[in-house]
Amino acid sequence: MSKGNKTVTITDNDSGKQVELPVLEGTDGPGTIDIRALYKELGYFTFDPGFVSTASCESKITFIDGDEGRLAYRGYPIEQLAEKSSYEETCYLLLYGELPNADQLEKYKNIIKDRKMVDEKMRRFFLGFQHDAHPMAMMVAAVGALAAFYHEQIDVHDPVSRELAAHRLIAKMPTIASWCFKFSAGLPFNYPNVELDYTADFLHMMFSLPGRLYQASPTMVRAMDLILILHADHEQNASTSTVRLAGSSEASPFAALSAGIGSLWGPAHGGANEAVIKMLTEIVESGNDLSHYVDRAKDKNDRFRLMGFGHRVYKNYDPRAKIIRQVCHDLLKELGDDNPNRPLLETAMELEKIALEDEYFIQRKLYPNVDFYSGIIFQAIGIPVSMFTVIFALARTVGWLSHWMEMMSDPDGRIGRPRQLYTGYAERDYVDINKR
Ligand code: SDX
Repeated sequence: MSKGNKTVTITDNDSGKQVELPVLEGTDGPGTIDIRALYKELGYFTFDPGFVSTASCESKITFIDGDEGRLAYRGYPIEQLAEKSSYEETCYLLLYGELPNADQLEKYKNIIKDRKMVDEKMRRFFLGFQHDAHPMAMMVAAVGALAAFYHEQIDVHDPVSRELAAHRLIAKMPTIASWCFKFSAGLPFNYPNVELDYTADFLHMMFSLPGRLYQASPTMVRAMDLILILHADHEQNASTSTVRLAGSSEASPFAALSAGIGSLWGPAHGGANEAVIKMLTEIVESGNDLSHYVDRAKDKNDRFRLMGFGHRVYKNYDPRAKIIRQVCHDLLKELGDDNPNRPLLETAMELEKIALEDEYFIQRKLYPNVDFYSGIIFQAIGIPVSMFTVIFALARTVGWLSHWMEMMSDPDGRIGRPRQLYTGYAERDYVDINKR
């Protein structure tokens, strides 16, 4: 961050008082007005519900240009990482800020492989859930429960302890995610196979059965690995901001990530991928004309929204959606014309075409986002709908931890504590119950 000579002056027209505030410039994107002196100088808070125009922190991890539809992790464009990198390499990049050399990557992979097991007592923890518990509910609980196994070992002020916690969480998420699926399906849990790379091992733990080792095709592994890369981080989204706020109280990173998983679950955020498939399936099965759904999405009196469309930051095509759209095509081509997911993809393409030509969507700059197509790939791989957001959480774990580590290593870091505009009752006296 550079504190140049640029400033803005705010004048209170009521009192005539003025305050000159510095503008802080970053490497890319808009500058920010440093308002930290505002309350002290003018006695006002700023008001920005949903933080549409508020920078909550300084970060060096991910940059998004919503107008141009640009996304980069540590300066590397997502298109190049999607084409040339792997999820394990992308994890190293997000955590440490640089692409690893061959030795660094091998060492990182082995550290993660050594930490993939979870305490055997976690199996009993799973057995306490209802048979139809949503996998995201199990994920929130299981990741939070890890805090109970590592509580004494965490010193959030020690960088070595923070790195160990990050490695443990990145390593154990595929194991926990696969156990959420296995429990939901009534199938026996699998253990990690360290002979396999991260993504292939996750698919093994998801789909291997006793006596029948599942070996995903290179196309499937590549499709899943790409999905994980594209979902790895996304600046200060709702779940990452949740992890930062929870972690700012010096809470356990396991508890902070459990809070982030809870936030991601919402259909307005990571839960949208599940909602998109349910919407596309309803459209295909109803046989209704697509314009019926587009009209509902435009109707202010109808809560229905075109799931997978719109984004708080992207006012252009989500670059991740463009990449996933192509993978959808390639994967379904491999799976053949009679693949049951083909009608979903065709419906999605048609819906996208109609929406992108409709004035309502054009005027509001509503484009397909990462969730619009990802569900089709998940289904094509054989992932059940209820597991979609669990995989989003698995992928985003490294992003959450990169932001947590960045925040906790800031010597000027403070607990996050927003203020408010109070519009409740003015002070009043208590009334005895016999006088109410
Ligand atoms: C993710 O933040 C991130 O980075 C998130 C994410 C990540 O990687 O972490 O990118 C992942 O969460 C992607 C978004 C997934 N959610 C969905 O696809 C759900 C459907 N989309 C919306 O609910 C909505 O677009 C949001 C929540 C994504 C964004 O909401 P905003 O920024 O608060 O926008 P808004 O609700 O104020 O909408 C602006 C206008 C409104 O109309 P007007 O009141 O101006 O007339 O656009 C309309 C909205 O009604 N609108 C939609 C719409 N999305 C917005 N209308 C119909 N269908 C939609 N999907």
